[in-house]
Amino acid sequence: MLDFTEHNLTDAVVDRFGACDNPRLKKIVQAITRHAHAFVKEVELTQEEWVEAIDFLTKTGHMCDDRRQEFILLSDVFGVSMLVDAINHRMPEGTTETTVLGPFYLGEHKLTANGATLVPEEEGDPIFIEGWIKAPDGSPIVGAIIDMWHTDAEGLYDAQKPELHGEPKMRAQFKSDTDGRFWFKTIVPSSYPIPNDGPVGKLLDATKRHYMRPAHVHFHVSSPGYETLVTHVFLSGDPWLESDAVFGVKKSLIADLKKSTATVYPDNTPAPKSWDLLHYDFGLKPEKRA
Ligand code: BEZ
Ligand code: FE
Repeated sequence: MLDFTEHNLTDAVVDRFGACDNPRLKKIVQAITRHAHAFVKEVELTQEEWVEAIDFLTKTGHMCDDRRQEFILLSDVFGVSMLVDAINHRMPEGTTETTVLGPFYLGEHKLTANGATLVPEEEGDPIFIEGWIKAPDGSPIVGAIIDMWHTDAEGLYDAQKPELHGEPKMRAQFKSDTDGRFWFKTIVPSSYPIPNDGPVGKLLDATKRHYMRPAHVHFHVSSPGYETLVTHVFLSGDPWLESDAVFGVKKSLIADLKKSTATVYPDNTPAPKSWDLLHYDFGLKPEKRA
């Protein structure tokens, strides 16, 4: 067929993909075609806007390297990352909700003994973090691997601090003990802006959106026979909880910090004058059997 018009072009492109023998790929490319065409028609995209969009995507690609993923950030601020997460993690009763992985997960962290101090108390407000890893029926999961990472008191991850020369800080790996418990000492993380020196930052500026994420600790929990859990625990009271730049907050993931002046931490080691306790238990979802 010739003479493609705004009225018949969408069907023509969808048909052209019709010979694809991979049913999933066919479904995806045909749906992208329909949605992209509908978008162009809905906004009556101008030629100049089309050029600007290509330029934006080109700059987004140029911003990416092995330490920076601007396309994931773009997906995050459009809520696409959370939507993909939501439809892939419909979590049953007794399991912990998921949220975005974020760009600062650096693979498996260094296995560290429970009770370790990750950051000295002079560098922030001391906090004792503990939790139990459980199956949906509440039974403990022993030997689960818990990777965690968080920012410093200024809202920077170790990967954003050149003075650390790649040395990990505020990130570690723990193993749940025979009761399913893990625990460590660190400092209270801060809310922080997502990376905003690239095209995504410019887009947020142009649309009068802020860059902030509420304070949280990331957790990546795995154990054989269970789906890997990727989540955060957010600190209650943070002013950015309601408007997280990447839509990652869920009520069930917000925890209260309990102030304490006890002279020892829950693991009976000496505590500073005042410290916070963060307790959060994680429920893992059993893997579907093949
Ligand atoms: C994070 O929580 O580390 C994060 C998530 C999405 C975008 C930027 C940072
Ligand atoms: Fe984060």
